[in-house]
Amino acid sequence: MKKKRLIGGLAVAATLALAATGCAGGGAGGGDEGGLITVGFAQTGSESGWRAANTESMKAAFSEENGFELIFNAADNKIEAQIAAVRSFINQGVDAIVIAPIVEDGWDDVLTEAKEAGIPVILEDRTVSASEDLYAAWVGLDFRKEGVIAGEWAAENYGSTPTNMVVLEGTTGSAPANDRAEGFAEAIKGTQITVLDSQTGEFTRANGKTVMEGFLQKYGDTIDLVYAHNDDMALGAIDAIEAAGLKPGEDIKIISIDAVKDGMLALIDGKINFIVECNPLLGELAAQLVKDALAGSISERVVYVEDQSFTPEQAAEVIDERLY
Ligand code: AHR
Repeated sequence: MKKKRLIGGLAVAATLALAATGCAGGGAGGGDEGGLITVGFAQTGSESGWRAANTESMKAAFSEENGFELIFNAADNKIEAQIAAVRSFINQGVDAIVIAPIVEDGWDDVLTEAKEAGIPVILEDRTVSASEDLYAAWVGLDFRKEGVIAGEWAAENYGSTPTNMVVLEGTTGSAPANDRAEGFAEAIKGTQITVLDSQTGEFTRANGKTVMEGFLQKYGDTIDLVYAHNDDMALGAIDAIEAAGLKPGEDIKIISIDAVKDGMLALIDGKINFIVECNPLLGELAAQLVKDALAGSISERVVYVEDQSFTPEQAAEVIDERLY
């Protein structure tokens, strides 16, 4: 996927003809004569605070007031259920489909079916490995860059002394888990940070806690640093570290990604040391892309939203203005 455009706010103008994608026009014609545009949205599930904020943003943007009838499905992070939801949207003849793909692989067949039915697909949040001509556009975050920023901070702050790190990975096979691992690994190359262990915590607080408990049993206080692929797992790790009688943020440093409210509060509290943001407010951009796809005019089919990063001091400065 090629980078095309970086957006810091929530506005996108889209005007590139979609003829090449074969995705222009909806199954039901892109809204009935001035009526509502029917959109099926296949969400991953409700695994995290980030996901709750993303769902809220999508529901607000795809409102009747904005000209949409939204059919919402959350797949509980089960890929088969998510693909079945997309198939059901195709069978219902929706005007457009939006997907936050749980994992990168396995999308070719159903995306081909949507294309053959003439229903444009917009991807939001996560990416897929399927051919780019099977979907109209994608809007989301640069997960690899998030990993690089987290890794560079780790390298700068802990990389010059021997540091044992454990990693709480996101959902196996998902774009953020793959890319955040890759970006971080690249950034800490040549430093004294060593990966003791790395396991998935499925992006949830409960699994983050369970996996961290296992790490603590196995490695005890030889663990110096946790890299969590999201705040929820970092919060679970904090619970496990405190239950083991250690101080998160001091005895064991923590770096995570998302910058949701609970993560930011833990950062300000000194229990997390650094957070890279992953902005979940993608609804307006996704809704605009749907309208543009149905009009046959998308200017940028790949839209990156800009992220920030926070130390405890920086988090304290912005916490009152944060929207999620
Ligand atoms: O795809 C974005 C990731 O999914 C977020 O970082 C994580 O919290 C969510 O579950």
